[in-house]
Amino acid sequence: MKGIVLAGGLGTRLHPLTKITNKHLLPVYDKPMIYYPIRALVRAGITDILIVTGGNHSGDFLTLLGNGKEFGLQHLNYTYQEGEGGIAEALGLAEYFAAGEKICVILGDNIIEKSIAKAAEAFRRQPKGARILLKEVPDPERFGVPVLEGDRIVRIEEKPIEPPSRYAVTGIYMYDARVFEIIRGLEPSARGELEITDVNNAYIETGDLAWDILDGWWTDAGTFPSLFRASELVRDMGSKRCE
Ligand code: DAU
Repeated sequence: MKGIVLAGGLGTRLHPLTKITNKHLLPVYDKPMIYYPIRALVRAGITDILIVTGGNHSGDFLTLLGNGKEFGLQHLNYTYQEGEGGIAEALGLAEYFAAGEKICVILGDNIIEKSIAKAAEAFRRQPKGARILLKEVPDPERFGVPVLEGDRIVRIEEKPIEPPSRYAVTGIYMYDARVFEIIRGLEPSARGELEITDVNNAYIETGDLAWDILDGWWTDAGTFPSLFRASELVRDMGSKRCE
């Protein structure tokens, strides 16, 4: 399975910090934000990785990461998203890299405590479709939120005013090659983006979306409160964060 880190977009919610650098290069405690999603993939045994960047500071990813030696990698792949047409648009740029294989996608501002190796293994064995990871959160209205009937997800709502459950759809998504066909058929949402939630809803419609609960803590880092909290969570892991 191949890995994709989505680190495009303009990070406008973090202005003025993101006027002079890319959001994913900002510090989360003692490392640049992008280190954490890359490490999450590598810890799950996924070492063939594409980074989708964008904006005015994308060259700095190369300076920082090179070929990924710090992560034990021999090579990293990069591509460039113009503008911020949405998470699904950024993922669409990875079709050539995926080359028909299954993929594990992680948003560049998502930080997790524990390994996703078990979910990745379950998806390797899953004959087809997609797999997402849910986490119970105090503020589901900030995220994609699943509507659950028993243990079945019947729909995902993006940033609902009245959340239908206490779960967030985390920014870790596993897909088969059909994802690129789905992305080609998407229309921009009211906020002008191709939405990853619409991709997941397409898999739900055909009964092809599996899910797990993510183990350990999870946070995004795309707003000032969540960026601050991410640093605190990483700091509090102490020596465990190097494992
Ligand atoms: O963090 C999980 C949440 O991420 C999900 O629960 C939501 O369903 C999903 O829509 C997304 O919500 P956000 O509004 O928080 O996404 P945001 O626009 O902050 O983008 C998250 C990352 O996705 C960002 O750090 C880089 C990547 N991205 C985003 C956009 C809009 C791109 O690579 N390109 C883009 O055009």
